Parts: sequence; C-alpha cells; structure tokens
Amino acid sequence: MANYDISVIAGDGIGPEVTREAMRVLDIAASVHGFELRRNELPYGSEHYIKTEEIFPDAAFSEAKQTDAIYLGAIGDPRLPVGLIEYGIIAKCRFELDLYVNKRPIKLYDERLCPLKGKTPEDVDMVIIRENTEDAYTGMHGFAHKGQPLEVATQTMVYTREGTERVIRYAFELARERNKKKQVTLIDKANAIRAQDLWTRVFAEVATEYPDIKTDHAYIDAACMWMVKNPEWFDVAVTPNLCGDIITDLGAMVQGGMGVAASGNINPGHTSLFEPIHGSAPKHAGKNVACPVAAIMAGAMMLDYIGEKEAAVSIEGAIEGLIQSGEIKGLGTGVHGTDEVGDMVVNRLSAAEASL
Ligand code: IPM
Ligand code: MG
Repeated sequence: MANYDISVIAGDGIGPEVTREAMRVLDIAASVHGFELRRNELPYGSEHYIKTEEIFPDAAFSEAKQTDAIYLGAIGDPRLPVGLIEYGIIAKCRFELDLYVNKRPIKLYDERLCPLKGKTPEDVDMVIIRENTEDAYTGMHGFAHKGQPLEVATQTMVYTREGTERVIRYAFELARERNKKKQVTLIDKANAIRAQDLWTRVFAEVATEYPDIKTDHAYIDAACMWMVKNPEWFDVAVTPNLCGDIITDLGAMVQGGMGVAASGNINPGHTSLFEPIHGSAPKHAGKNVACPVAAIMAGAMMLDYIGEKEAAVSIEGAIEGLIQSGEIKGLGTGVHGTDEVGDMVVNRLSAAEASL
C-alpha cells in the first residue's frame, strides 16, 4: 500500500478546527482509495511562539522537508508584531523550499454561491498561477531616519529571469494539461512597475514554445475589473507575487468566499505546501463556525500533488455534490458547524466506499 508522510501545522485561530475536518476527510479518502497517510504534527504558530519564543526551529523544518508535503491550517495572531509569524512560517517555507508556484484555482461549484449576477459554473473556472518567491516579498526593505519627520521607507521588488521564466512555463504547461480554453493571460503592472518589462519579454519568449496556447494580457487594475465583469475570459493566468496576492482574494469571492478557496505552494517534484487561502480569523476561533471547505480542498490539492489523483477528484466531487444538492447551503462563517460540514463530506465519501 502506498504511504505518505505529511507534516501538519494546524496553526492559529480557526486553523486547528478546519485542519481537524480536513484530516478526517483525508483519512476516509485514504481508506477508500487504498493508501496510508502518516502525520507529522507540528505545534508551530502564534500560541506556541508566545509560550516558547520558538517560531519554526531548524531541526523541525529539516524534518518537515523530508516529508512528502506540508499542510498548513492558518497562522496569524493580532497579539504579535505584523508579519512575524507569517514570515517565520509561510515565507520560510516558500523561500527555503523554493515553492515558486502559488497555484490558486478559482472554480464556482454552484451559481448560488456567486456574488456576480448571472454567472454560472461555466463562467468561473480558472487557475491563477502566482509567482511565489520574488517581487515585493523577498524582504529587501529598509528605513532611514526612522521615527523622524523625514523618514524614508523602501522595499525592493525583485524579478529574476529564471524566476519569471519557470513560473510562466508552469502556467503554459498547465493550460495545455487542463485542455480547456488553452489560454494563458499575463496579469501585471508593467505600465507602472517598469522592471516588470522582464515579465512582458519572458512571457512573449515562452509563448513561442507553445503555439497551441493562446495568450492574453491585462494590467492588474483592469484584470480586477474583468474578473468581476467577465470571469469567463480567464483560463490560466500568471502573475507576479503581489498582483497575485491581491487578485486571488478577489477570485476567492467570485467562487463563493474565503471558505472555499484553496492553494498549493509548489516546487514541482519537491516537498510542497498546501493551505486554504483564508487567514486565522481569530474572532471566529473555537466557535465551530468556520467553513472547512477551503481547508478540505487544500487537502485534496495535496493528494493530487503527491500522486493520489483519484482521491483528490473524489473529495472535490463530494464537495461539489453537497453544494449542488443544497446540503451545504453556503460557505460563509456560521452557515453550518465546522464539524457538520466535515461530517457531510466524510459521510459522502464513506457512502461511495460502501457502494464499491
Ligand atoms: C497569502 C497571504 C500571505 C501573502 C500573507 C499572510 C503574508 O495573504 O498567502 O495570500 O501575502 O502571501
Ligand atoms: Mg493573500
């Protein structure tokens, strides 16, 4: 029987609750599809930091690096300095594991979940490929005359040819594999951020290797407008890190909210990290009101990545079925109990097992 080692950081706020449901679903999927998941549970997050001053120690990080994938519930806590735990855990993984692709599918499972009038599942089915290790995120910043009236703050946006090319190539490969519109849209802000001219040129170069794939381009501000007005125009979109961060939250809303949006931080062929896009939502923590669908879908993306594609498809199918049948009535906080949604997905997967 195939077996996999997964590192699990349940994290802060609603992280542990949604992770618990995701793990229950993954366990059922493993038993239905005949594989084993061994979990390396890691205690890191804000609470752990407050107690121990440890963020993500090197020894634990090296161990996680040896596992097949890392699953992250959510991290962040308003009691800590902005970015401390995010940089110490998420950014550490993104940079040190070189997770250069942030794959964020935006798929509407049912018309009723879409805030846009008249848009159906056929109209909202795209994948945003966000570059994940460069741009404004490298941490290169500084202050001069801190605290003084003439204070200066700078942050450098970094784009390398290699970093740009590999993520653009990933997007083209994905468009080919999806075999839908066979289109890649470049979303950037090259008209203002002149260094992104590198993206313009590299995109055109890589496109010549994919004559079967159509190309399109939109500046990020216009792309936000099109995403709302004509989401059906998109298939695969590729974008620098910061533009990608922003537009994927918009995308999450178009597909039904933060309760459904999942993501994979990927270095193809290497240990990669899967997480719901939502944060730790401290005000909802411990109340059993957070929607675990995004967390469950992040688990499905992880299974797909480690090679259990059928299991991933069956989890997505179960969720889609529950939403379309109206059993899952909405994906907002408090529409259902967190465990209630977990139960529904688990029951649907076990029913599928019983009928085999
Ligand atoms: C995301 C988050 C992170 C990001 C934060 C927590 C640093 O918003 O994964 O989209 O900006 O990348
Ligand atoms: Mg974000």
